[in-house]
Amino acid sequence: MLAEITIEAPAKINLTLDVKGKRADGYHELETVMHQIDLVDKIIMRPCSQGITIESNSYEIPDGEENLAYKAASLMLRQFPQGRGIYIYIQKNIPIGAGLAGGSTDAAAVIKGVNLLYGLQLGQPALLQWGEAIGSDVPFCISGGTALARGRGEILEPLAAAVKLEMVLVKPEFQLSTAEVYRDLRLEQDCIHPSTSAFLEAWTKCDIINIACHLGNILESVSLKKIPLIGMIKKEMLDLGALGTVMSGSGPTVVGVFADRRQAQKASEFFKTRYQEVYLVSSYDRGDEDGEKPFIAR
Ligand code: C5P
Repeated sequence: MLAEITIEAPAKINLTLDVKGKRADGYHELETVMHQIDLVDKIIMRPCSQGITIESNSYEIPDGEENLAYKAASLMLRQFPQGRGIYIYIQKNIPIGAGLAGGSTDAAAVIKGVNLLYGLQLGQPALLQWGEAIGSDVPFCISGGTALARGRGEILEPLAAAVKLEMVLVKPEFQLSTAEVYRDLRLEQDCIHPSTSAFLEAWTKCDIINIACHLGNILESVSLKKIPLIGMIKKEMLDLGALGTVMSGSGPTVVGVFADRRQAQKASEFFKTRYQEVYLVSSYDRGDEDGEKPFIAR
């Protein structure tokens, strides 16, 4: 049995997010392009004789059931008798409550970690099912890269890595409740649906100008009303030369896509003089060809 394992847990952004309708189960039917970025938590896991212990460098994250990583470990260890207990250290770099799937990606890493540490030999389909039981973004965080997601977010169609995006993320200091943002969405009113098909065409052609042009998130119609600063940051991004901007998930983080790293860096330096949480990021490089994310086993 492995004594310790470290798994990278990258943040995700939504390059497009469209809502097609409200479902009978209360969730919304999505069509969204999800993309991993190189803003990464590191999850260190060790098997132990019993119980689940969560420690972190961040005092903001809960250490019980409200933490999706805890929930994932708890559900899996209950199901598999060979899994006794687990110690989990979360080195948190992804901001919390930001629309970047920070909690979901930690849970995805734990699902993979329990599988490897306890030799459960679960294949990708089983891991994705575990992810679905934990949250709508978790299956994507397990499969990674870039994908078109439908359904609640769990029906995934992987997209080839087209271009490496150079981006700046600005997170206003407010947090938004995902459930509240979806609840306040009025599809019959003045919300702008992104064109997923136009985005996908640009993505396939590696056409950065049209990729940036067709970024879009229908949830901005709700979140901008709650936090007008999101709209101001979007405008500032464009003034600083961004090719396009979009809010990620239910917000409030704003993503700006730039033509190259140098321009992104210049913009991030400006934003750092005005906002506390500013991140200069690129697309996440998975580092190998078969799509498995890196882990270090000891
Ligand atoms: O699945 P997850 O727990 O991450 O979703 C959080 C909340 O976001 C849900 O309780 C629901 O209110 C909303 N949601 C939705 N439709 C989706 C995904 C999430 O309405 N496709």
